[in-house]
Amino acid sequence: MELVYLSRADVEGLGMSMSEVLGALDRGFAAKGRGHTEMPPKPGIHTRPDCFIHAMPAYVQELEVAGLKWVSGYPPNTAKGLPYITGLLVLNDCETGVPLAVMDCAWVTAMRTGASAGISARYLARAGSSAAAIVGCGVQARTSLMALVEELPDLSEVRCYDLFPEATQRFVADMAALFPALRFVTCASAPDAVRPADVVVTAIPIVVDPEPDIDAGMLKEGGLAVALDYDSAWTSAALRECDKFCSDDVGQLLATKAHGVYFGGIPAAISADLGELAAGLKPGRERESERIFSMNMGIAVDDMVTAKVLYERALERGAGVRLPL
Ligand SMILES: NC(=O)c1ccc[n+]([C@@H]2O[C@H](COP(=O)([O-])OP(=O)(O)OC[C@H]3O[C@@H](n4cnc5c(N)ncnc54)[C@H](O)[C@@H]3O)[C@@H](O)[C@H]2O)c1
Repeated sequence: MELVYLSRADVEGLGMSMSEVLGALDRGFAAKGRGHTEMPPKPGIHTRPDCFIHAMPAYVQELEVAGLKWVSGYPPNTAKGLPYITGLLVLNDCETGVPLAVMDCAWVTAMRTGASAGISARYLARAGSSAAAIVGCGVQARTSLMALVEELPDLSEVRCYDLFPEATQRFVADMAALFPALRFVTCASAPDAVRPADVVVTAIPIVVDPEPDIDAGMLKEGGLAVALDYDSAWTSAALRECDKFCSDDVGQLLATKAHGVYFGGIPAAISADLGELAAGLKPGRERESERIFSMNMGIAVDDMVTAKVLYERALERGAGVRLPL
């Protein structure tokens, strides 16, 4: 028996596009909505304050993919010149359980996280949304913008804010090179970025005691907010004023809330998860004026459906290294 090992460079070299990742995620969410997935809540260990290593297993029956992501997030890494997110993903044969592949998971994590913001926009953004705001201009922000470009045909302006102006500048330079038709506006604060935007993505570090500065009344009527950073960027009042509160996984949201550290301020009623929206079981946006919030924590189903495409492409192309079990 042997498995395929794919380094970060191997994974990137397979050239999976954002549009392909969005397609894979939508199929995965729809399967989850129909109840054809198994995804237990993720356990984690915590070797340093505000740091985590999470185990994220999932089986997506409709797409015959099973595996586990073992991913760490270490905020102090940035100062050490290391990525915040690192880790590995293992795919198993659904019939035999035999490991098929081990791959770097940083690219998968970034692409599927951005794509989840795109899926939120697909079902929850107002038609004609033309201005996006990005708060926290790091790795997930970049892929989120890539996904918004795919999902929002009228997107023309991107309002950017990062605590560190040089991070905003790097983001604008990188993304303007990718999307020269977009107008990038550098903002002096998160509220400045958010107020005129139709779709807002926040991706700042998740911390235990956040001091959010996006408050009630700042997300405009008809706006969509997508938080990739738990409740770090938005006040409870801002979360509660939304007409619909959605998530990528209600079970995981409520299980995390039950631990008592995060999500204390979310509304009691959760309108839908992205699985129910993708499967057509619940309506997404129903009125132009609705304020909608999508709390996307990142789910293992997203990782597995993306990794399956990569694995099959690697087999076709003979990419990566074969290792004996
Ligand atoms: N939901 C998901 O699926 C998922 C997946 C991966 C990462 N994340 C989360 O997304 C967030 C961003 O991750 P990343 O990999 O892009 O990290 P990153 O370090 O690349 O980017 C974070 C950016 O936020 C900026 N920042 C820090 N504090 C800020 C503040 N108060 N206001 C504005 N900007 C601020 C930093 O300068 C940095 O540029 C983290 O919270 C991470 O845990 C979520």
